[in-house]
Amino acid sequence: MSDYVLELKKVSRFFGSVIALKDINMQVKLGEVHCLLGDNGAGKSTLIKTLAGVHKPSEGEFLIEGKPVRFKSPRDALDYGIATVYQDLALVPLMSVTRNFFMGREITKGWGPFKQFDTQRANDIAQKGLADIGIKVRDPEQAIGTMSGGERQCLAIARAIHFGAKVLILDEPTAALGVKQCAAVLRVVAQARAKGLAVILITHNVHHAYPVADRFTLLNRGHSLGTFMKADVTREEVLEMMAGGEEMEQLESELAEFARSDEKESATA
Ligand SMILES: Nc1ncnc2c1ncn2[C@@H]1O[C@H](COP(=O)(O)OP(=O)(O)O)[C@@H](O)[C@H]1O
Ligand SMILES: [Mg+2]
Repeated sequence: MSDYVLELKKVSRFFGSVIALKDINMQVKLGEVHCLLGDNGAGKSTLIKTLAGVHKPSEGEFLIEGKPVRFKSPRDALDYGIATVYQDLALVPLMSVTRNFFMGREITKGWGPFKQFDTQRANDIAQKGLADIGIKVRDPEQAIGTMSGGERQCLAIARAIHFGAKVLILDEPTAALGVKQCAAVLRVVAQARAKGLAVILITHNVHHAYPVADRFTLLNRGHSLGTFMKADVTREEVLEMMAGGEEMEQLESELAEFARSDEKESATA
């Protein structure tokens, strides 16, 4: 048995002459949050779409529990327990919390022409699935459109956990959220980890990643800068690697310049 639920060995992905990913090595463990960090265009989405069966690797190997696999479609990835929550979430705003929770996996009662969605039971299951990760919903029949962005993210995550995901991939779940909602989503991420899932959290915000991460893989223009355990790297070091060092130094000296001109102004005022 492999130590890793999921492993990439020298995976590359090309789009025509564009090298979106080159020689990526990555190991994902159950019960860990693995943050995938990188600036816009670094290849984060391409990488997770490869993990989710949307793209086929152009080169390299993809292993699940030590065995090489080739996904033909996202359905294959899902059958292996790899669930992905995309930024657009694939929720239907006018449908209820419960309907969105089940979406395509509706439980029914009766049969033939009398078959119908078992609303009461479905409401109970959806409510319990959400409560399980610390989200209280007063009315599971309320439309999703009435929930906040953070709550919707949490719902999509609860759904994946409930339907048996082993590996949960989240693409920038905190990108569009305020501080409070962001904290709520990160709390749910921690819950998924506590349940023994492997979470792959994509973000370009180190401050969102740092509190919940066990390891970081940094991507820069399609290349991996390596994987680091949290114990081995500070937040500042991660930031510096992401920005490519010089740009951060440049920014710092510019900010220092601003501060100095501010001081001068207040001295002459
Ligand atoms: N379907 C595609 N066709 C052509 N180029 C693509 C495609 N998807 C991504 N790319 C290119 O691959 C690179 C990485 O993109 P992406 O994975 O979306 O980065 P990120 O999610 O880190 O912002 C970019 O240069 C992007 O233009
Ligand atoms: Mg992206």
